Amino acid sequence: MLQNFSPDREFALQLDKNDLLAKFRQRFYIPEGIIYLDGNSLGLLSQDAEKSLLRVLNEWKELGIKGWLEGQRPWFWFSEQIGEMASGLVGAAPGELIFSGTTTVNIHALISTFYQPSGKRTKILADELNFPSDIYALQGQIRIKGLDPEKELILSKSSDGQTLDEKAIVELMTDEVALVYLPSVLYASGQLLDMEFLTAEAHKRGIPIGFDCSHSAGVVPHHFSKWGVDFATFCSYKYLNGGPGCPAFLYINKEHFNKQPMLAGWFGYVKEKQFDMSLHFEHAPNAGGWQISSPGVLGSSAMEGALQITLEAGIENIREKSLLITTYLRKQIETNLSGPPYHFSVVTPKENTRRGGHIALTHPTEAFRINEALKARGIIPDFRQPDIIRIAPMPLYNTFDEIWQVSEALRNIFDNKEYERFEKTRKAIS
Ligand SMILES: Cc1ncc(COP(=O)(O)O)c(C=O)c1O
Repeated sequence: MLQNFSPDREFALQLDKNDLLAKFRQRFYIPEGIIYLDGNSLGLLSQDAEKSLLRVLNEWKELGIKGWLEGQRPWFWFSEQIGEMASGLVGAAPGELIFSGTTTVNIHALISTFYQPSGKRTKILADELNFPSDIYALQGQIRIKGLDPEKELILSKSSDGQTLDEKAIVELMTDEVALVYLPSVLYASGQLLDMEFLTAEAHKRGIPIGFDCSHSAGVVPHHFSKWGVDFATFCSYKYLNGGPGCPAFLYINKEHFNKQPMLAGWFGYVKEKQFDMSLHFEHAPNAGGWQISSPGVLGSSAMEGALQITLEAGIENIREKSLLITTYLRKQIETNLSGPPYHFSVVTPKENTRRGGHIALTHPTEAFRINEALKARGIIPDFRQPDIIRIAPMPLYNTFDEIWQVSEALRNIFDNKEYERFEKTRKAIS
C-alpha cells in the first residue's frame, strides 16, 4: 500500500479511507485538540472501558459484598476470566494467563519461582537496555537468594546503545546461567526481539526463559505456548488501554503449573477451597496460583471493555495497521526531515519483524526541546533519555492524517526554531 508513497496530505487521507480499523476511533475519548501519540505509555479511555468500569462501580453500590459472586462478571472470577479473554492475544493455552498484580510485582513473583541457582548455574542473563524496574527486581531477587547482583546479573551489551543482537545474547547463555529474562520490545528504541529464536536457544541449553511484554502486548501478536516461553508478564495500561495503574497479566507455561509460587498469597489458593481458610498453602494448578492479594476490582474493571474492542478489531489486523502507520511515519521522516537542516533519524529497526508499535525518533542536539515544542502544539509523544522522542500511533484510534500533521509540525518547529522557547531541563514525567 505504501509502494506509491507520497508525502502530501491527500495520500494520508487516502490511507485513512482504506483503513479497516478507522471505525474504532469514535469509541475512544480523544482529548480535544490533541494528537495523542503516547498510547505506549498510557492508552486512552474508550466508551467500552468506561461502561465496564461504571457497571462494576454500580455493582458495588447495589450489591455490596455480594458482587464477589453475583456481579455480572463475578468479581471472584474476574482475574481468571479476563486472563482467558486475553489468551488469544499472546497465544496462551487455557489456564496459562491471569490478569493480576502489577508488572514489577509479577516480575518478583515469577523470578522468585524460576530463579533457582544451583551448583555452577547461578546467573541471570538480561540486557543493558532493559526497563530499570525490571533490573531492580532482578537485583532484588538475586539478593533474596543471598547472592551478589554485581556477580550474578549479566547484562548483554548493545553495540549501538539502542538495539540488541539476539546472537550476542545467545553467546552469553553459558552453563553458568540459571535464567534468561528479556523484554519483547525495547522500551526506548522499539526493537522487537525474536522471542521464538531466543526461547529455542535457551531451551537447547537447558535454561528457562521469560519475557516482559509490556511494550508489545496488544499491538504485536505472540505465541507463548507454541514457542514454549516459560513465563511472562505485561502491563495493561499501554496498548491494551486498561487505564492508569490497571493490573498486569501474568503468564505461566502449563509445564510449570506444579512449580511453587514463592510470593504466596491467599488469592493464589485453589479457588474452590480458598475460603476453607487452611493454613497449608495449596496453589491453584494454573497461572492463578501466582496471584497474591485480593484483586483491585474497581481499578481492573475498565479492562473488560477495553479488551472487548481489541478482540473485536483482531490482533492480526491491529498489527497490520501498526506496521503500515509506523512505516508511513518513517517514510515521512526519511523523505522530509532526515537531510539538512533537520537531521532527524529513526533508531527503530526498519524490518517489520524487528520492531514493535512505536517509532523512536532522534535528533543530534535538540530532541528534548523538540519534544516540548510538539507538546505545546497539542501533539503528545514522549521523551526518553538521552535523545529519543517516542511516537506511538495506536492502530485503534490514530489516523494517517495525524501522522502527516506530526511530520508537518516537526518541520515547522525546526524551520521556526520554536524549540528555542523551551528550557533544556526535564520535568518529573516527560
Ligand atoms: C517494560 C516495563 N517494565 C516494567 C514497568 C513497570 O510497571 P509497573 O509500574 O506496572 O510495575 C514498565 C512501566 O512502564 C515497563 O514499561
